[in-house]
Amino acid sequence: MNFQKLCVLGLGYIGLPTASTFAVNGLKVLGVDINPHVIETLQRGQIHIHEPGLQDIVTQAIQSGHLTASMQAEPADAFLISVPTPFKEHELGDYNGQKYKLANMDAVTAAAIAIVPHLRKGNLVVLESTSPPRTTVDLVNPILERSGLKAGIDFYLCYSPERVLPGQILRELVENARVVGGVTPESARAGHDLYAIFVQGKIIETDATTAEMVKIMENTTRDVNIALANEFARLAEKMGVNVWEAISLANLHPRINILSPGPGVGGHCISVDPWFFVEAAPELTPLIYKARQVNDSQPHFVLEKVKQAFHSSAGKHSAEDGSMSALSGKKIAALGLAYKPDVDDLRESPATEIVHLLQAEGAQVKAWEPFKPVAQIDGIHMASDLNDAVRDADLVLLLVKHTDFVKLDPNEIASKTKARLALDTVNAWNADEWQKAGFQLLRLGVQTTPVLKAA
Ligand SMILES: NC(=O)c1ccc[n+]([C@@H]2O[C@H](COP(=O)([O-])OP(=O)(O)OC[C@H]3O[C@@H](n4cnc5c(N)ncnc54)[C@H](O)[C@@H]3O)[C@@H](O)[C@H]2O)c1
Repeated sequence: MNFQKLCVLGLGYIGLPTASTFAVNGLKVLGVDINPHVIETLQRGQIHIHEPGLQDIVTQAIQSGHLTASMQAEPADAFLISVPTPFKEHELGDYNGQKYKLANMDAVTAAAIAIVPHLRKGNLVVLESTSPPRTTVDLVNPILERSGLKAGIDFYLCYSPERVLPGQILRELVENARVVGGVTPESARAGHDLYAIFVQGKIIETDATTAEMVKIMENTTRDVNIALANEFARLAEKMGVNVWEAISLANLHPRINILSPGPGVGGHCISVDPWFFVEAAPELTPLIYKARQVNDSQPHFVLEKVKQAFHSSAGKHSAEDGSMSALSGKKIAALGLAYKPDVDDLRESPATEIVHLLQAEGAQVKAWEPFKPVAQIDGIHMASDLNDAVRDADLVLLLVKHTDFVKLDPNEIASKTKARLALDTVNAWNADEWQKAGFQLLRLGVQTTPVLKAA
């Protein structure tokens, strides 16, 4: 199939790199977003998100006249939907008393509705948003058929999951294998032809529901395996074992690959998508449900670890007299708020949840997120830089494995802070080096042996 013009609905972390990659490969691309800030920023030739290389490719696409941005869809040969699929904020599902999160498909619904007036015979529509199984056939198709056209006969309809890694999106878009699931084999072929414009990895055709399952299975597998690693970390602490050493030894086995424990699972994918399976069939998904619970409770585990760290300091006495909460007055420098290393994305971030939990216990937290140098984030007091974060702290708390944090020199930090206590939740820092620099370094997955003398 031959494509001249593409309309991409949703210009976020997925839609904008995809739209600009198609544009620099010769298509006329109209990027559509309902957020005026996104459109105005693009119309000024700038971008509203952080992704390495994205500004360059967007500049190139706009200057060549191949990429334009608007709040309204227009007729095109193909439409690509890359809008968010978060949870419902105020509604939970219930299965025998077990509450589970529900997918909010409002944006996908709205994007499909916006395409209807522009849909023509021979067009292709691709849903890329990560969606519950059967969304393409049960939700998107009936909306598009309001046009009077029939999917698989008059127009082609596909689901194609996005599997790029934030931070590497532009390379992975081109190099990764891509699954394209059609509501008919002809639809899958049309989707194949669209992506073949720039994809160098394999393009595999299947049906739409299989393609939806593939994406959710991938993220669920990671979620369940991280939950297992987090349980190993909790067990190791109880047994007096260093979980990082134990994992590295277990992984010497040729068929074992234990993932890393951490402060929790965040982002809009791994912490969200497994719920799509639970919602689809709660009676069939007890393991997936439990893994979500383990990972969602990990920020509380970190909170307890912080409390242990202060156990023998003045905070203990404050807590024991019942007049103040356990962390009352404690000053904590929280390093990192993003949901994963080297990105600016805070969605569903366990690090931000940990900061909120610490604040609720009376701690005075100053956070430093190098990828979001702003004054306030969601009720969190932000430091102006790293020095500002650590200066008056009693505890330096590492929450995200940003490369710059991994490389921190403990001697330099020691010279900038009065804190002599540090807690590493991501296994970034060398215990010996930090101890030599005068810190007591505690680590998630390693028993906490308290700790500070009273101040
Ligand atoms: N970011 C990732 O790493 C990643 C990876 C794989 C899959 N996904 C999936 O891709 C989808 C998009 O994710 P994202 O990270 O790009 O989201 P995002 O929030 O960064 O961007 C989505 C954009 O869609 C816009 N939007 C919302 N409703 C719209 C509508 N009706 N019409 C037009 N625009 C609309 C928003 O204003 C926003 O700019 C989600 O389903 C996500 O789960 C994301």
